[in-house]
Amino acid sequence: MAANTKCYAVFMLLLPFHIVNCILLKNKHIPINREDTTSYTSNYNYKTEYFTQKVDHFGFVNGDTYQQRYLIADQFWDSNGGPIFFYTGNEGDITLFCNNTGFMWDIAPEFKALLIFAEHRYYGTSIPYGSTAFKDPTKMNYLTSEQALADYAVLIRHIKSVIPGTRDSKVIAFGGSYGGMLAAWFRMKYPNVVQGSLAASAPIWTFREDAECDAFDRTVTETFHKSSPACVDNIKALWKTLNTTASQASGLSKLTEMFHLCKPLKSVDDVDALKGWIQSALVYLAMVDYPYPSKFLAPLPAWPVKETCRPLSTPLSGDNLIRGSVKAMNVYYNYTGSTPCFDIGDSNVPNLGISGWDYQSCTEMVAPSCSTGKTDMFEKSDWDFSAYTNGCLKNWKVKPNINWIETQYWGKNLSAASNIIFSNGLLDPWSSGGVLKSQSDSVVAIVIPNGAHHLDLRGSNKADPADVISARNLEKKYIASWIKSP
Ligand SMILES: *[C@@H]1O[C@H](CO)[C@@H](O)[C@H](O)[C@H]1NC(C)=O
Ligand SMILES: *[C@@H]1O[C@H](CO)[C@@H](O)[C@H](O)[C@H]1NC(C)=O
Ligand SMILES: *[C@@H]1O[C@H](CO)[C@@H](O)[C@H](O)[C@H]1NC(C)=O
Ligand SMILES: *[C@@H]1O[C@H](CO)[C@@H](O)[C@H](O)[C@H]1NC(C)=O
Repeated sequence: MAANTKCYAVFMLLLPFHIVNCILLKNKHIPINREDTTSYTSNYNYKTEYFTQKVDHFGFVNGDTYQQRYLIADQFWDSNGGPIFFYTGNEGDITLFCNNTGFMWDIAPEFKALLIFAEHRYYGTSIPYGSTAFKDPTKMNYLTSEQALADYAVLIRHIKSVIPGTRDSKVIAFGGSYGGMLAAWFRMKYPNVVQGSLAASAPIWTFREDAECDAFDRTVTETFHKSSPACVDNIKALWKTLNTTASQASGLSKLTEMFHLCKPLKSVDDVDALKGWIQSALVYLAMVDYPYPSKFLAPLPAWPVKETCRPLSTPLSGDNLIRGSVKAMNVYYNYTGSTPCFDIGDSNVPNLGISGWDYQSCTEMVAPSCSTGKTDMFEKSDWDFSAYTNGCLKNWKVKPNINWIETQYWGKNLSAASNIIFSNGLLDPWSSGGVLKSQSDSVVAIVIPNGAHHLDLRGSNKADPADVISARNLEKKYIASWIKSP
C-alpha cells in the first residue's frame, strides 16, 4: 500500500480507515471482567433467545437460514400497553452493547418497557454459514446494513406474533455508533415497525465521497487539546522523533526496548506499525474519554485523555519524549499493570467483530480518512481511495461502493424523516460526521459538549456532567411523546 495511507485500525466503535493491508488485528477473545463503576452486571438480567432468520431477505432463490441471537428482559414490562425498547445491534457481541447501554435499563422501569437487544448478523454468535463464511466472498455477500435492518423488522414482527400483549406495543429503537446509524435508518426505512429512534453518536455523514477526510483526526486533536495543549505539541513532535531514532545505529532495538515490545522492530514497516498502534490508542482514548473509570474498549481511569497526557504535559524532545510517550501508552494498554510486554499487532478490543467490520468498510461503509499533520497531531497521510480499493480486492475480493450509503439512506436530506434524535458528545471524534443541528421539529440534534462516544447511552453515574444529564432528560421527553402519539 502507499506509504502515506492511513495505517491504523479504529473501530467505529470501529475502523473508519481501516487497515487495508496494514496490521490486521486479531479478534482475540480475551476474557476480561468488564464490570465498571456503572453497576450493570448485577441488575441486568435477561434471557437469551434465538430466531431463525432468512440469510437473504431481498431475493427468493436462496432459502438458507441462520440463528440470530437476541436478549430479552421483561421484568419491567407492563404487558398491558408497555412499549418495546429495541437495541439495533452493531458490530460485535450483543452482550457487550447490552452491558454498556445502561440508559435503556435505567429508564425501562418508568416506561414499563420490554427490552430487546438484537445481535447484528455476522457478529457474536449470529453468523450465517458459521465462521468459515469469512473465507468465502459469496457467503459474506449477505453482510449488509440493509439485511441487518430487515432482520430487525422481521424479528419484531415475530415477537409481536408470539408474545401476548406486544401486538400493539410501540417500538422505540436505540443504538450507539454504527448501532445508532442503524437505529436512525431503521426509523427511516421501516416507520411502520418503529415509532422513533435514539441514534447516539451516529456518524451517518462520514460515509460519503465528499466527507471532510481530516475532520475525525482534527476532533481527536481538539479533545486532547482540551486536556493539555502541551500534550498535543508533544504528540505532534513524536512521529519525527521516532523516525530519527529509528534511523540511528541500533535505533530499532533501542525503540523495541524503550517501548517494552514483545517482538523486536526490524524494519521501517514495523516502525509504521508502532505508529499505528500509538495512533489507535489516541483515537480510542478520545472516544472513551468518560468522566469515570470504565472498561468499554479497555480498562481505563476516569478522564483517560487527561491521564494519558499527564507524562506529556511539559515540552519534551528526544529520548525524554519517547519515555513520556511510553508512559502515556501505559494508560491505554496497561492500566491494570498486567501487560508484561506490548504486542503492537494487537490493540486488544475483545468482543468486537473486527473481520466483519473490515468487510463492511470494504463494501458500503467507506469513510474517507486523512490527516494533515498541521490541523491535527497525527503524521500527514492522504486519503487514497484506489489504495483502499486494492486492499479490499486483495482481502475480500470486493470493491467498495463509496456512494451507496448516501443513495440508500437519503444523504443530507432528512426532510422526509421523523421521530429521530441524533445525540453527539463533542469529545467524540465521530461527532465530526454526525448530525449536530436539528433538521426539523422531529429530527432533532442533541449536543453534549462534555460527552465522549455515546456517553448518554451509558448508565447514569455520580460523575456524569450536567450536560449529559439534561440530554438524557430531553431524550426521555421525546421518547414519551412518541409513545403517546398515535
Ligand atoms: C456482559 O455481562 C454479562 C453478565 O455479567 C457477562 O456474562 C458477559 O460476559 C458480559 N459481556 C461482555 C461482552 O462483556
Ligand atoms: C517518517 O518517515 C517516513 C518514511 O520512512 C516518512 O514518510 C514520514 O513523512 C516521516 N515522518 C516525519 C514526521 O518526518
Ligand atoms: C505494565 O505495568 C506494570 C506495573 O506498572 C509494569 O511493571 C510493566 O512493565 C508494564 N508493562 C509494560 C509493557 O510496560
Ligand atoms: C429534500 O427532499 C424533499 C422530499 O423528501 C424534497 O422535497 C426537497 O426538494 C429535497 N431538498 C433538497 C435540497 O434536495
